[in-house]
Amino acid sequence: MGAILRGIGVHVPENILTNADLERMVETSDEWIKTRTGIQERHILPKDSPLKASDLGASAALAALKKAGVTPEQVGGIIACAVVPDKQFPATACLIQEKIGAKNAFAFDITAACAGFVYGVNLAAQMIDSGQCEHVLVIGAEALSRAVDWTDRNTCILFGDAGAAAVISKGPADRGVMRSILRSDGAHADILFLDNVGNEKANMRMDGKQVFKLAVSEVSKVVLDVLALEGWKTSDLDLLVMHQANVRILNAIAEKLELPEDKVMVNVNRYGNTSSASIPLALYEAEQAGRLKPGMRIALAAVGGGMSWGCNLLRW
Ligand code: UT7
Repeated sequence: MGAILRGIGVHVPENILTNADLERMVETSDEWIKTRTGIQERHILPKDSPLKASDLGASAALAALKKAGVTPEQVGGIIACAVVPDKQFPATACLIQEKIGAKNAFAFDITAACAGFVYGVNLAAQMIDSGQCEHVLVIGAEALSRAVDWTDRNTCILFGDAGAAAVISKGPADRGVMRSILRSDGAHADILFLDNVGNEKANMRMDGKQVFKLAVSEVSKVVLDVLALEGWKTSDLDLLVMHQANVRILNAIAEKLELPEDKVMVNVNRYGNTSSASIPLALYEAEQAGRLKPGMRIALAAVGGGMSWGCNLLRW
């Protein structure tokens, strides 16, 4: 059987934080942010909002289920990714399970930071392929603003909040997730991290330059490697949907892969980096814009803290 992305749903907070707003908070400029990152605005939960990662994830999951025509009771598994979970434990996936009424599902979180969705898609496809589940929810539930140091201009300009989810379901063998490669290298654990969840002073820290370099070299490699496994060339790809962190990273990878602009999905300008929610959010927008057609060859690729990275190849 194939494992197809049957429905995608998103929940993005209404509140927008622009570069002009950031100019009033730290020593930065709209010009610097746009040139160095491509980001113009991001959606952020208001400071006093009671909403947490699980609320963003649950709302996105319900939207994805509606789109897929699948009821919460039919869901066999829930995989959630949350860089800033509601609690250290239980898993955000369990909190989402309760909120959406998916009482027949098992639920757990994976920790692969911004690469979480690609890891989750790989796991979900295997659960479906093995016959363990018919429908699996993979959810990026990211309330990143809760762990951003709003006085650190190196990081605070980058991130946004969002929930985005995909229902992955049993489908025809010639469609859906064809192949995945996942990779990790803990030797780089200190270039992007967040310690001590629960400690209000814990913030995301990053060596931006190192993350940038690793992202460009390893993501290009893993895309080429998974294409080679499937016997496809880069020119066979119809769309590359990457984790949206910085438009310069996306452009550098596209250049290495010799992919034209119209085959690379970009929406980081309007959302910033929403960690594991960024790929399903970009897929959702690609679908809304009519850019996803049945049979298309699509690659999803991401890199995140760990460092962890990977790529899924799909037949839409
Ligand atoms: O999901 C993965 C998460 N993280 C990432 O993907 C981040 C990857 N890295 C990046 O996107 C880029 O490295 C950044 C956008 C973070 C930084 O861009 P950069 O071109 O690597 O700039 P830089 O860190 O080398 O900084 C250049 C200058 C520095 O000043 P000096 O030392 O040249 O005087 C910084 O202090 O820009 C300064 N700077 C800023 N200036 C205005 C750093 N942040 C800001 C800022 N506004 N917000």
